[in-house]
Amino acid sequence: MHQTKIDKGIIAKELRFVPEIDSKPSKVFVETYGCQMNVSDSEVVVSILKQHGYVYTEIMEEADLILINTCSIRENAEQRVRGRLDVFRLMKKRRPSLLIGVIGCMAERLKEKLLEEQKMVDLVVGPDSYRDLHKLVQQAGTGQKAINVLLSREETYADISPVRFDENKISAFVSIMRGCNNMCAYCVVPYTRGAERSRDTQTILREVRELIEMGYKEVTLLGQNVDSYHWTDTATGDEISFPRLLSLVAQLSSKLRVRFSTSHPKDMNDEVLHTMAKYDNICKSIHLPAQSGSTRILELMKRGYTREWYLSRIEAIYSILPTCCVTTDIIAGFCSETEDDHQQTLSLIREAKYDFGFMFKYSERPKTYAHRKYPDDVPESIKSRRLQEIIDLMKVLSVESKKLDIGNVLEVLVEGTSKKSKHQLYGRTSQNKIVVFPRESYQIGDYVNVLINDCTSGTLKGKVIQ
Ligand code: 5AD
Ligand code: SF4
Repeated sequence: MHQTKIDKGIIAKELRFVPEIDSKPSKVFVETYGCQMNVSDSEVVVSILKQHGYVYTEIMEEADLILINTCSIRENAEQRVRGRLDVFRLMKKRRPSLLIGVIGCMAERLKEKLLEEQKMVDLVVGPDSYRDLHKLVQQAGTGQKAINVLLSREETYADISPVRFDENKISAFVSIMRGCNNMCAYCVVPYTRGAERSRDTQTILREVRELIEMGYKEVTLLGQNVDSYHWTDTATGDEISFPRLLSLVAQLSSKLRVRFSTSHPKDMNDEVLHTMAKYDNICKSIHLPAQSGSTRILELMKRGYTREWYLSRIEAIYSILPTCCVTTDIIAGFCSETEDDHQQTLSLIREAKYDFGFMFKYSERPKTYAHRKYPDDVPESIKSRRLQEIIDLMKVLSVESKKLDIGNVLEVLVEGTSKKSKHQLYGRTSQNKIVVFPRESYQIGDYVNVLINDCTSGTLKGKVIQ
């Protein structure tokens, strides 16, 4: 069961000072950086604050409380947040009653240091302490600095119905687990988000049912490693694994598209693939981060698989799900990476025939195994060059993957108006490819069949056929 945990520092302060509380800010603005999980968390945060009478605003200038939900995954993600804090600092100078809170991974990583280094920050709240936000805001309102960065082994915010930011009411994130136990050598996530814990299956199904009732057409089940989802139903004693959860969600409505992210190559088994094959509404798209194509580097990264194992998973995907698209994450220039290791990454990318990838230069993160044990010894210029080669190759593969669709008719869920022209709509295929087509009389939320006639590396183009 969840227990609200209170940081020791706050208890001590409260004993000394009982605030005359009611300078509660009423309008909250939230800015979110980083992964989909952070977007999902911001929706939980706003929901929690609404329960305490706050109003959410999309206009930063009218907010009484600005929260910045932060990411620590790479140094440049943190730099971006610091840049935003400089902007907030100027706002606070003009309006001293404005409260500024840093929440999420940077709050967890830097803790009190953030209050010391960023004088205008009033509250610092880690990813497992959002239930405490109202109390912390009240405390900050009395002029004290407020912090709670305790990590929990149980908190999943299972009972909170997130406030949805998605304006179209088409696609929603549903968090199914939190934290990560994998301890990849380069990664700060296990330190900022704590140990892995799964969310009660029934609360996930309830949330998805509510979304269906609200008219949502697509859910993405989120976790750092969805394949290790595990829940024991207390009523029935049933053990619910990820494939089972996936099929339970898919069965809620055949009109609901179901996606999930992220899969871990060491844990993604054939049962997941067979479940995907069984249900048409489970999208044929898998995000399967490889990180590197060199077994030596994968071992140093502590990823728990070899190049051969990874490629065997790719083979299983294409044989069980012939229409599936695979996407990936790649890190260029990890500690001790040689030219040969890099070439192996390029060749793995070619073999895997990805449709898309997120590609990064290795960024050393404090406290991680790699930071403690390995020198960050690949020069910056070499990291940049290798990253560029990976990006260039991925672009070629993205075009190749899209070209295969030309001449095919694909089902598209319409998501919005194209940024380039109001006469065009866009949506996505089951494979998560973006399709742009003439608007005619189609509406956001429709399923349409589009005959594909052209493409770029990022987009398919076509025309709806009846
Ligand atoms: N440096 C660069 N990329 C990283 N990632 C995680 N940690 C680091 C790091 N220290 C990447 C991985 C992961 C994605 C979310 O971010 O590729 O899959
Ligand atoms: Fe980080 Fe590895 Fe966990 Fe992903 S699986 S969050 S890369 S530790």
